[in-house]
Amino acid sequence: MRKFCGLLLLASISACSQPPAESGPAIVVPDAAHVSLAETLVPADPTLAAIYDRSCRACHALDGLGAPLSGHTAAWTPRLEERGLEGVLASVHTGRGAMPPMGYCPDCTDEDFRALIEFMSTEGQP
Ligand code: HEC
Repeated sequence: MRKFCGLLLLASISACSQPPAESGPAIVVPDAAHVSLAETLVPADPTLAAIYDRSCRACHALDGLGAPLSGHTAAWTPRLEERGLEGVLASVHTGRGAMPPMGYCPDCTDEDFRALIEFMSTEGQP
């Protein structure tokens, strides 16, 4: 009986150490190539590039802030798979983690956001 209780205790401890399912995808740490790539990438469209420069770039081009980097598809895929495009778009509206609501672009339309998300989640070419 005593042995049985010990096993139960062990089982409940290991159950408690599991991260909660709703914690979201772990941060995908970028390699050096993706870090330097993110610093240089800008959307080809000039209007979009201007929005990106004054809003998203401050966080999505810099390593270490917890934001999935522009051009680093591996960091975007788990987010898009978990929430879909509409789900990650909703995160921009509400803010998420260290990202403020609207990602510093209060006048952006959903069309702008979708294009920016597509740009940032597309694998960057050096
Ligand atoms: C102040 C920093 C900051 C700015 C500015 C910012 N972001 Fe973010 N963004 C983040 C961080 C940090 C995350 C990761 C949040 C988390 O999952 O904890 C993130 C995550 C995201 C995600 C994924 C959300 C999800 O559900 O996984 C999208 C999409 C996004 N940002 C889009 C944008 C767009 C578009 C802009 C510009 C209009 C922008 N961000 C500006 C910091 C920022």
